[in-house]
Amino acid sequence: MCGIAGCICGKGGNAVPDVYEGLKRLEYRGYDSAGIAAVTDDGVTVVKKRGVVEKLFPHIGGMKGEIAIAHTRWATHGKPSDTNAHPHVSGGICLVHNGIIENYCELKEKLSREGETFLSETDSEVIAVLFKRNYSGSLTAALIKTVKELKGSYALMVICKEEHKIAVAKYKSPLIIGYGKDRIYCASDEPALAGKCSEISVLEDGDFALLSEDGAEIFDSRLRPVARKKQPNRAVSAELSLGGYPHYMLKELHEVPASVKNTFSAFSGVESEIVKTFSGVKRIIVTGCGTAYHAGLVGKRYFESFAGIPTDAETAGEFRYSEPVITDGTVVVAISQSGETADTVEAARLALSRGAKVVAVTNSPYSALTRLACVTVPVAAGAEICVAATKSYTGQIAALYLTALAVAGETADGERAARLADMPALCAKTIENVNVSSLAHMCAKSKGVYFMGRDLDYAVAREGSLKLKEVSYIPSEGYPAGELKHGTLALISPKTVSVVIITDKALAEKSVNAVEQVLARKGKAAVITNVDDVEDDLKGRAEIVRLPRCDKFLAPLAAAVAVQELAYRTAVKLRRNPDKPRNLAKSVTVE
Ligand code: M6R
Repeated sequence: MCGIAGCICGKGGNAVPDVYEGLKRLEYRGYDSAGIAAVTDDGVTVVKKRGVVEKLFPHIGGMKGEIAIAHTRWATHGKPSDTNAHPHVSGGICLVHNGIIENYCELKEKLSREGETFLSETDSEVIAVLFKRNYSGSLTAALIKTVKELKGSYALMVICKEEHKIAVAKYKSPLIIGYGKDRIYCASDEPALAGKCSEISVLEDGDFALLSEDGAEIFDSRLRPVARKKQPNRAVSAELSLGGYPHYMLKELHEVPASVKNTFSAFSGVESEIVKTFSGVKRIIVTGCGTAYHAGLVGKRYFESFAGIPTDAETAGEFRYSEPVITDGTVVVAISQSGETADTVEAARLALSRGAKVVAVTNSPYSALTRLACVTVPVAAGAEICVAATKSYTGQIAALYLTALAVAGETADGERAARLADMPALCAKTIENVNVSSLAHMCAKSKGVYFMGRDLDYAVAREGSLKLKEVSYIPSEGYPAGELKHGTLALISPKTVSVVIITDKALAEKSVNAVEQVLARKGKAAVITNVDDVEDDLKGRAEIVRLPRCDKFLAPLAAAVAVQELAYRTAVKLRRNPDKPRNLAKSVTVE
């Protein structure tokens, strides 16, 4: 959801290559356009282009400046174009923005009446114009005055040729400061600073900072100087490379076993705190968006089956506006890979304000969600670059499994936990042996793909469908197998593929009925299964994707690998880039 990067160095240094590299590492946050502004001897130079960051490369060869700011955009207000690309310039002021200014129409109208003109359709240009009007020799003073007029969310960086500084402000969009050897950085996220600095500070909402080559002066919302703790930068350059894989999606799929294993190892560090936080719990609400919500559907089943606690799962965007009933003893479990998803963070804030305890399940220990939560269950998936979530989903399921066991009073060395310890090897075996090639071919030629399952298989069906539509653009739906005959059957034709996930022997017969109903209507059918009888029944009539046998509560991990691989192979067959699906960004920090 837009990535920003800035760098300031001493006399004779060049900040441009650093911000360019930073942008490339932030591209998962948006790839509609990119731009860089640098303070050079001749003033401020700006290069901006529609498309991916690489499009800037031919234009920045001769660009050199001790100060540079940069932006990679996920378009919200105004189409992807050169003009709507950041940085925005007004007078000598250059600005990059991540977030949404909700009152921009009002401000734009007022400024237009007062004679200002605008080049772009963006909300961000309004900030640049306001800033120019407020600037009278002090970047900080102008920034403070400007943000007072804004409603919405922002991470801002501003430069001008008159001052050897970068001014920044943060509210509800992430921003970190990085301390390099002879330069200071600022960026949306740690990967931008991998290999550049080993220590970072995370800014809080309402913070301002003034960066110079010597360091960062940080002020809180009441303009009091504050120190924001220096923490290690966890992003490592080597981990961010493709490592010989053609796409991050495939690389990250192969990292599923490590994600489950490392999440298991990390859990012991929080187990006692989890037990404390859940003590006296009467009701659990699991929330998140997209894939994280789908992990929550699996988690709901764990909390109910292992601990016997009534649990609801709701998407964070719905939870916020559904007037949730939160009574004494409610724990809200908020799941998010990035820990920055606006709806999930706001759902957690709402839950806290109503007296619930909030438990975060996240990959991002410095995120807004972690800072809000009473306790965080770490998902040790490592950096996930591909927009489509893979290893973070399986890591989240492992984290929820262990959390539910802890709530049930079972320790991490108990029998059920031991079954999870076997899963990294089983997932690795699945990745090695699962053959989805022929099914991917069927999907790529189809007009629609319907994923079905019962109980935990239904949760995986939802995820399989999301993954497929996200990276292949084929219309898809994931629904409970029992619902087929209540509507979706009307859509079944020889041009559609129905994928039925069957990993619970006890429910297999019922799910096979759904396959028969699809076949009777001349639809194409496939099963993803680890049940022998299903294979025997359907051989030659439906495509079979075979999974290794495992505990029914952990089958979603192996089935997830199969549906993720299916989505990947289908996208590649259709020549789509699975790492950068159209219209999407990885971290959705606006509503
Ligand atoms: O960072 P989060 O886990 O909060 O992100 C939530 C969703 O935006 C995310 O899972 C999205 O659905 C994925 N791109 C799906 O692959």
